[in-house]
Amino acid sequence: MRFRSMTFSARHLLGIESMPAADILTILDLADSYAELNRGQFKRTSILEGMTQINMFFENSTRTQASFELAGKRLGADVMNLHVATSSVGKGETLIDTAMTLNAMRPDLLVVRHPMSGAVNLLAQKVDCAVVNAGDGRHEHPTQALLDALTIRRSTGRVSGLTVAICGDIQHSRVARSNLLLLSKMQNRVRLVGPRTLIPDAFGELGADIFHDMESGLKDVDIVMMLRLQEERMSGAFVPSLREYFHLFGLDSEKLAVANPAAIVMHPGPMNRGVEIDGTLADDINRSVISSQVEMGVAVRMAVLHLLTTASTRSELTD
Ligand code: NCD
Repeated sequence: MRFRSMTFSARHLLGIESMPAADILTILDLADSYAELNRGQFKRTSILEGMTQINMFFENSTRTQASFELAGKRLGADVMNLHVATSSVGKGETLIDTAMTLNAMRPDLLVVRHPMSGAVNLLAQKVDCAVVNAGDGRHEHPTQALLDALTIRRSTGRVSGLTVAICGDIQHSRVARSNLLLLSKMQNRVRLVGPRTLIPDAFGELGADIFHDMESGLKDVDIVMMLRLQEERMSGAFVPSLREYFHLFGLDSEKLAVANPAAIVMHPGPMNRGVEIDGTLADDINRSVISSQVEMGVAVRMAVLHLLTTASTRSELTD
């Protein structure tokens, strides 16, 4: 494998908000190369050889944690997963204490998911190594937005000039927030579609157009991104019943018919079939790119881990 020089100056990956568009493109380009590597039989490089990556997940996760673990291993790092029971955590101080203990073991990378918005930023100020935000409360989930952007670019050939509808539980979703920030930065039009109770007004101030019905919200869009009802973050009832929610806001082929005929369907997972999305549509390989999102997740995380740990010798995988 050969490498060529490229620019990427961030020390941590905490969110999309402060990330320049040029850094987003650098990550996507490098991730494209890693996507190719991952399709081959030999999936390993030695770029993180001798380095230690610790994954600290203070919240449940299937695909994000598996994806970061595989990404680190495919780059040659020693990867350790710290299993933290969600119930035993919750206070910022506990997180910092744990992080300081791990910091003393001299890791090169900490990948952190935490239920409190802002917790990962706080932690990044206390440790010496690079920190990656794997989702903090309702705040940001930057690698999800990056893997979504890569999936969009590989499916449509571009990542700007598109109209994207993000639908469902916007209020409790860090995925919606990071995607809105990234897609707006890359000059796309973003629509937020969902019931009034699940779209806070503040999102409109971030530059999105807001719709409260699927028919007008999906009209002529190029991308439809569905989100789960994040019931673990809800206090009280936000929707009358799941049946009614599916009827009004669940995506099926009938509702999708008003979108651009080539529109693709996305979902970050975990998916609740029959609630926010019809199962047959989710499995329709002509419309749904949900499994590509998972595949691109590993590639994007490899690119991020690579760029954050090779600060002094910034290099790009060229073949
Ligand atoms: C999302 C998350 O955890 O924020 N899932 C993911 O990372 N793929 C979305 C969700 O939990 O609904």
